[in-house]
Amino acid sequence: MKLSPSVLSADFARLLDAVRAVEPWVDRLHWDVMDAHFVPNLTFGPPVVNSLRRHLEIPFDVHLMIDHPADYVERFELRSDDSIIFHIEADDAPRAVFGAIGRVPARAGVTLRPGTPLESLAPLLDDVSLILMMTVEPGFGGQRILPSSADRVRAVRALVGPRPIEIAVDGGIDVHNIRAIAHAGADIVVAGSAIFGQSDPVAAAKALRAAAR
Ligand code: DX5
Ligand code: ZN
Repeated sequence: MKLSPSVLSADFARLLDAVRAVEPWVDRLHWDVMDAHFVPNLTFGPPVVNSLRRHLEIPFDVHLMIDHPADYVERFELRSDDSIIFHIEADDAPRAVFGAIGRVPARAGVTLRPGTPLESLAPLLDDVSLILMMTVEPGFGGQRILPSSADRVRAVRALVGPRPIEIAVDGGIDVHNIRAIAHAGADIVVAGSAIFGQSDPVAAAKALRAAAR
């Protein structure tokens, strides 16, 4: 299992230092890009992500909670082991977004709201390297994980079958539920408030990893 802290809960005034402190103990870094339209919250966009990309080695996962994702994909200056993840409920046709991602080095990922049927993923499976399962309604950190999340992760694991697609899980993960989520088939676990929201983010990351076993 890979651990991917979400910077949403970090101190934005010292973002680089906050990430560097946990970098040796985590695997990837999760960026929640919000547009105050697709979700009712506003965070940061390409200038912030690109700037930090130039100062860090850890792979980035950019979670786009925005409408018109196809128009913004190429503004992110990412690397081949990074991924760019868009919501299948956003207003662009998935084919158009895959086309844009195909013009940048990053891998393609899709994500879906907790209430969106998993069958919507079926036609996209040949185009994605990563599926991000939302286990809260997207928009805010620090929410409680929705019930039946582990069952939904198991269902997507079955849907993916032997394809080389990573499954990531995002929303409300903490030391109490990470084991059930990891054992349900999550390859990557995202945690915001459970890492950067804690007084000792390194100890928190270690505790999450220990609890996942
Ligand atoms: C929610 C974001 C999540 C969020 C996770 O819309 O997609 O990545 O930052 O935060 P926690 O782990 O606090 O639920
Ligand atoms: Zn996210």
